[in-house]
Amino acid sequence: MIIGVPKEIKNNENRVGLTPAGVAELRKHHHTVYVQASAGVGSGFQDAEYEQAGAVVLPTIADVYAQAEMIIKVKEPIQEEYALIREGQLLFTYFHFASSEELTHAMIERKATCLAYETVERADRSLPLLVPMSEVAGRMAPQEGAKYLEKPLKGRGILLGGVPGVKPAHVLVLGGGIVGTQAAKVAAGLGAQVTIMDISLNRLRELDDIMPKNVVTVYSNEYNIREAIKTADLIVGAVLIPGAKAPHLITRDMLKTMKAGTVLVDVAVDQGGCIETCKPTTHEDPTFIIDDIVHYCVANMPGAVPYTSTLALTNATLPYAVKIANLGWQEACRQNSDLRLGLNVVNGEVVYKGVAEAWNLPLVSVDSVLEPAHV
Ligand SMILES: NC(=O)c1ccc[n+]([C@@H]2O[C@H](COP(=O)([O-])OP(=O)(O)OC[C@H]3O[C@@H](n4cnc5c(N)ncnc54)[C@H](O)[C@@H]3O)[C@@H](O)[C@H]2O)c1
Repeated sequence: MIIGVPKEIKNNENRVGLTPAGVAELRKHHHTVYVQASAGVGSGFQDAEYEQAGAVVLPTIADVYAQAEMIIKVKEPIQEEYALIREGQLLFTYFHFASSEELTHAMIERKATCLAYETVERADRSLPLLVPMSEVAGRMAPQEGAKYLEKPLKGRGILLGGVPGVKPAHVLVLGGGIVGTQAAKVAAGLGAQVTIMDISLNRLRELDDIMPKNVVTVYSNEYNIREAIKTADLIVGAVLIPGAKAPHLITRDMLKTMKAGTVLVDVAVDQGGCIETCKPTTHEDPTFIIDDIVHYCVANMPGAVPYTSTLALTNATLPYAVKIANLGWQEACRQNSDLRLGLNVVNGEVVYKGVAEAWNLPLVSVDSVLEPAHV
């Protein structure tokens, strides 16, 4: 198969869809890989490394789209890319169609085939291509929190781990899923006193078993949250209710009960946030202050560490990309139910229920597009 890797052109996106190691793997299976010049530079990969791995570097994004049967990237195509997409071309990337009607219509119009990272789903309902970014954001949360707790950055001026003779900071983590677990682990590793809250008792049992002694688990309810925020120095928002907006566990009135200079890192901001006063911010201007409480609400936290994020993402996407390249997308989706659930649009027809419902579009069954006769 001919595979193309364009440079991401979305504002401030430094990740890339394939690493030189990924190119080498696809070459091993006798596929052709075209990489746009400087596509990997933001993540620390030079063109020469791609060439050494067996890729052909092409000068422009138009060259890559013109050659490739499958485009592997990170973010959804943006307007400048729409016209480059050819009928039936396969795009393997994040799309988040339910949040963009314009993108959905553009892909339908271009008659593209879109395999969306975010809906590739395992039988146990886990989302293998979303997990790596949650791991990155979770581990970043205490690091960013620690930074903004410093006085010059308007925080309380407390060191997460304390020092001998001075007690450490109290870190409250709301939600004990992927983000919350990674956040708790890093905060605990830095020596903080950590409280992790979840509504799943089974999850709390698991966390109680695996976490170090400076992490305690507490059942999440309004009463317990109101108590914990009085002593917290750093609060990490990490809740998720699949398919729904995050619940506001910390409401505006609660800010008054917190210590001045407390830092809130609402990782769940991409789903509306679990702290009422959070609104999405960017890496250029990550924080704002309300009632003396520092709010950090960057919606694409992994974007700040493109080297780690690119490797983490491609570790997860590459086995699927190899499968698609070896078998073709139709056979790969017939054989692999994870990938089948990733199909959102096929030759301009919507095949994913959530997308059809979101924009009131006709839904075509995946089975019908996977029939051998279907072009
Ligand atoms: N900002 C970013 O850059 C970024 C990056 C990655 C993920 N995220 C977001 O982080 C959030 C968490 O993702 P995840 O992968 O950890 O999800 P997850 O499903 O693994 O974990 C969510 C946890 O929240 C718990 N929960 C639900 N309601 C709760 C409540 N009322 N109180 C306490 N806990 C509750 C669930 O039981 C679950 O354990 C998502 O919104 C995700 O989109 C943001």
